[in-house]
Amino acid sequence: METNAVILAAGLGKRMRSKLPKVLHPLVGRPMVLYVLEAVSAVIDKKPVVVVGFGREKVMQAIGDRALFAYQEEPLGTGDALLKARDLVAPPNSTVLVLNGDAPLIREETIRSLLETHQREKAALTFLTFRSDDCTGFGRVVRDAHGQVMKLVEEAEASEEERQITELNAGVYCFEGSWLWEHLKLLKPHPNGEYYLTDLVNIASGEGLPIATLTADEEEALGINTRVHLAKAEAIMRRRINQRWMERGVTIINPEATYIEATVEIGRDCVIYPNTFLQGKTSLGEDCRIGPNTIVRDSVIGNGCVVIASVIEGSILEDDVEVGPFSHLRPGAHLARGVHIGNFAEVKKSYLGPGTKMGHFSYLGDATVGAGVNIGAGTITCNFDGQRKHPTVIEDGAFIGSDTMLVAPVKVGAKAKTGAGSVVTRDIPPKALAYGVPARVKKLLEGEENPSEGRG
Ligand code: UD1
Ligand code: CA
Repeated sequence: METNAVILAAGLGKRMRSKLPKVLHPLVGRPMVLYVLEAVSAVIDKKPVVVVGFGREKVMQAIGDRALFAYQEEPLGTGDALLKARDLVAPPNSTVLVLNGDAPLIREETIRSLLETHQREKAALTFLTFRSDDCTGFGRVVRDAHGQVMKLVEEAEASEEERQITELNAGVYCFEGSWLWEHLKLLKPHPNGEYYLTDLVNIASGEGLPIATLTADEEEALGINTRVHLAKAEAIMRRRINQRWMERGVTIINPEATYIEATVEIGRDCVIYPNTFLQGKTSLGEDCRIGPNTIVRDSVIGNGCVVIASVIEGSILEDDVEVGPFSHLRPGAHLARGVHIGNFAEVKKSYLGPGTKMGHFSYLGDATVGAGVNIGAGTITCNFDGQRKHPTVIEDGAFIGSDTMLVAPVKVGAKAKTGAGSVVTRDIPPKALAYGVPARVKKLLEGEENPSEGRG
């Protein structure tokens, strides 16, 4: 039997007190609804239908073409939301899996088991339950003396006795499509004006139809209604991700204080020190040591790199690169093999060739630096004239003296040297020594003839 999935994501998320739609609040860096979407998509072949409403443009943008979208204009409850998806579910008699978009910890294995239970029990409806010490906000599962499910009752409408029930509705359901669509339109609104999807359980049991349940782990069922829940879910998801990397051969010194987004890749034998954030499309090769106190975002890091207390964004590090402590690589930094970046250095949109060193207090922007270059302490590319950015070129083996200002556009030839405190405003030929303010070529280093004063 074909299976369709519907994800409910149109609610306001009032209890989040946010301008952002609840399902877009990030969990370990990604909108929570994407976790639900991906878990579902791993199990069924067809594109899920996502019901959107509040902030729908943003939700649709975050999901893109991975789903079909139904629109619920007004938040009239989960029953009404599901009804909006009806026309996109084909064929109408297929099995329909329904999930809340605000419960991102659900695992694909659990979704698969729910579908299996549904088929095995030949149920009209199967849903996921869990037990918790903290029942606040969840629907209670009411069973009769024989343990048969009778109904689901929402906390606000539960009797004192029903409130004591610790078996709760996780918000993941599986329906026989033809029965579902026929009965969904018969739901009656509750006093708050909402139509409850959960009333279908009461209806099915009233009709004496087989209802099955599957019990999930409490962690998986956590529905996020408040920012307190969000923090709880964040900790669980973080733990899951970290555990997966440890199982694959990565050492994480303190998993509680290590923040790795689900989109990151890490090679074997890397060691991640506390308070490190690995974010976005980041990948690490093998044998790297990253952290403590480091952020790496959208960057590709090779094998054997060491990064301490630094921020790296949109950068490429080839093998055996060292960075930090206290340096900042900004988008477009590309450090070739064996580059050493020390303290208080900033590199933006620049290439540094193999083995180049930049130890202390420097800024390189829009620069192309060759191999084996020494960037002396305090070197600055003055790349911005107030209106435009200009390039700096430093060729192989050059030695830039401490506190050199390279006023771009400017080029320092191969093996040339600048004296301490130079302000370089004109190109320096290969192997020349230049110093002063503004820098003049004073002599050529051994092996060169015809000393010149440089260009212009
Ligand atoms: C719901 C269940 C409750 C269950 C809990 C599990 C109902 C009536 N109650 O309660 O039994 O224990 O989930 O987490 O279903 N949504 C819409 N349109 C709406 C209202 C909600 O699309 O008009 C979406 C929300 O975006 C959300 C999901 O449905 O993703 C659940 O809605 P929410 O209001 O959070 O339901 P709960 O009160 O948590
Ligand atoms: Ca909820």
